[in-house]
Amino acid sequence: MLQHRTPGDAHRRPANLAPLIEAATQVDQRAAFRADVLAGLGKAQKAVPAKYFYDARGSALFEEICTLAEYYPTRTETAMLERLAPEIARHVGAGATLIEYGSGASRKIRALLEALPAPAAYMPIDISLGHLQASARRLALDYPGLPIVPVVGDYTAPLNLPVPPGARLVIFFPGSTIGNLAPADAAALLAQAAGRVGRGGSMLVGVDLKKDPAILHRAYTDRRGVTADFNLNLLDRINRELDGDFRRAQFRHRAFYDPVRGRIEMHLVSLIGQAVSVEGQRFDFRVGETIHTENSYKYSLDEFRAMAGRAGFVPEAAWSDPDCLFAIHLLRAGTMST
Ligand SMILES: C[S@@+](CC[C@H](N)C(=O)[O-])C[C@H]1O[C@@H](n2cnc3c(N)ncnc32)[C@H](O)[C@@H]1O
Repeated sequence: MLQHRTPGDAHRRPANLAPLIEAATQVDQRAAFRADVLAGLGKAQKAVPAKYFYDARGSALFEEICTLAEYYPTRTETAMLERLAPEIARHVGAGATLIEYGSGASRKIRALLEALPAPAAYMPIDISLGHLQASARRLALDYPGLPIVPVVGDYTAPLNLPVPPGARLVIFFPGSTIGNLAPADAAALLAQAAGRVGRGGSMLVGVDLKKDPAILHRAYTDRRGVTADFNLNLLDRINRELDGDFRRAQFRHRAFYDPVRGRIEMHLVSLIGQAVSVEGQRFDFRVGETIHTENSYKYSLDEFRAMAGRAGFVPEAAWSDPDCLFAIHLLRAGTMST
């Protein structure tokens, strides 16, 4: 159920920035966090979904990761978008309503906004409330002619987005964030997106390519330890929001590439045998036992095209950078709007 948040700061809201829409209330989101953490820590392989990295501190740490020398995806995809924007604009055409999944800092959309003829509106969707608000405000100030409608919520949930009837929709999903979903869930999200944009609508997706595992390993195990901090911040968030007593010094970040599954896995490794309490429930850890905190699947161009095709999209174009590190796929929906 979508709810308009009454803005206490309306006087500071630029005219083209709509009031924030809450696709799920903060109370609902806390309940989902609680349920997922308690269920995940109760599994034989303890696991917490990656979307919970993104509290305010997690979002700030992700922005820092994007600047690291080892983390090639952000600079590679940004350079590609800047180079390809005129070509993408020719495919997309005029008057499109842009919906961005996991918009974060809303930085990459700028390359498209510079090239697309007269976009009708921009709707950034993100789970990280404060980061979304700040990014939407910055963008609204920089693009005063563009209506911006920020939505806080989970794009994997069935969101009833307020798009005008007949709008031509383009979903933008950069950052290889789709790789955080298991292939079956990624396929389901693509199918849901194809239904959302409707026949003739489009989706532009940034996807990390399979490559030398040493490059991948470096990208997720940076020398400054920012990725480790990002991973360990999940424990701080559980402590703060779910009355946990994790001692972060008793856990260590680990990331590795699994070539069979084609994915990076991130874990938090318990350095000692210990018991941890969350919301009054006790969870035991053996030495070396892990919490699985993130997957990042890598897809060849053909693997991703095939998955998108099964989800109801017709692959229209795909590009990669000269070093074949990263891909951008433009997909056209062949199904009817749902
Ligand atoms: C890997 S970052 C990418 C950020 C940005 N799109 C980029 O390309 O640099 C993932 C972003 O998606 C958001 N996010 C992750 N899971 C989400 C979900 N299920 N629903 C909504 N937002 C989500 C995070 O808050 C974060 O801003």
